[in-house]
Amino acid sequence: MIQLTQVTKRFGDIVAVRNVSLFVKPGEIVGFLGPNGAGKTTTMRMITGYFLPDEGKVEVGGMDVVRYPELAKRKIGYLPEDNPLYEDMTPYEYLEYGAAMRFVSKHEFKKRLWDVVDKTGIEDVLTRPIGELSKGYRQRVGLAHALIHDPEVLILDEPTSGLDPSQIVSMRELIKELSKEKTVILSTHIMQEAQHISDKIVIINKGKIVAQGTPDELEKMAKGEVIVHIVVKDKNFEQVLKASGIDIVEVKERDNEVEFIVTHDEKGDLRERIFNIASENKTVLLEMWRERVSLEDIFLKLTKEDVA
Ligand SMILES: Nc1ncnc2c1ncn2[C@@H]1O[C@H](COP(=O)(O)OP(=O)(O)OP(=O)(O)O)[C@@H](O)[C@H]1O
Ligand SMILES: [Mg+2]
Repeated sequence: MIQLTQVTKRFGDIVAVRNVSLFVKPGEIVGFLGPNGAGKTTTMRMITGYFLPDEGKVEVGGMDVVRYPELAKRKIGYLPEDNPLYEDMTPYEYLEYGAAMRFVSKHEFKKRLWDVVDKTGIEDVLTRPIGELSKGYRQRVGLAHALIHDPEVLILDEPTSGLDPSQIVSMRELIKELSKEKTVILSTHIMQEAQHISDKIVIINKGKIVAQGTPDELEKMAKGEVIVHIVVKDKNFEQVLKASGIDIVEVKERDNEVEFIVTHDEKGDLRERIFNIASENKTVLLEMWRERVSLEDIFLKLTKEDVA
């Protein structure tokens, strides 16, 4: 469980994170989605206790991160944005060092090691210098390091950045697998990534949460939740639609026909409603199709608008 309550972080005049409140349930994967400089890393650093919030409260597993930083840190595994690794160390040494830093006993480390190595698939490279490893393996080593003390919560800052497409797929699968036991927050600036991997997406822009919900909920949130294209012969159908409370977004006139692009706030299938209106009015529907509003559209819209 992760809970942020009205959290604000400033750097001089810059408000990097502004009044952010967020609740992440155990076992949930939450994707922080936002453009460069949105405040994703700053928010994650406050959750890990690396930055202190100027205002508000951060709790991890019910523990106040500011009041009990050491206890909270034991509940958190963190893969930082730039994944700083010690190039001269081997993954084995790096994990041993990470365990010692988090007060994991030698005995406990031996028990944990094989579980983590197995989960992250780094057995083959365990005794090779990290400096010689591919980017994909480095990310896995970083993830193993974040897991070695068996934390409740995983904070992964751009975990797939710099990976090739097949490495991205396997990293996503690994994160999904890990989320069966852990609460996960990950950041990305790629909409498709957030959509594929997350149970819930939190869209951040200029330090503020501009939208949050499941991928489905966010799609529905777009203005004109459903857009339907209708093609008829009769231009006057426009008045009929208006009289029925249908919102006409655009009218495109062609030779012998006219296309209306319409939307409606009410729930239910707009196409059925249009069909009924047309048949009551004895208007022949030449064509009708529904346009899906994509998450990409919403993301672009929300992050373009000046919300400061
Ligand atoms: N240590 C710092 N000192 C001063 N300003 C900072 C610091 N860290 C972040 N900022 C500023 O805070 C804002 C949010 O930055 P942050 O790194 O959290 O964004 P981000 O969403 O992680 O972006 P990116 O996608 O580029 O990683 C930016 O304006 C950034 O310049
Ligand atoms: Mg960042």
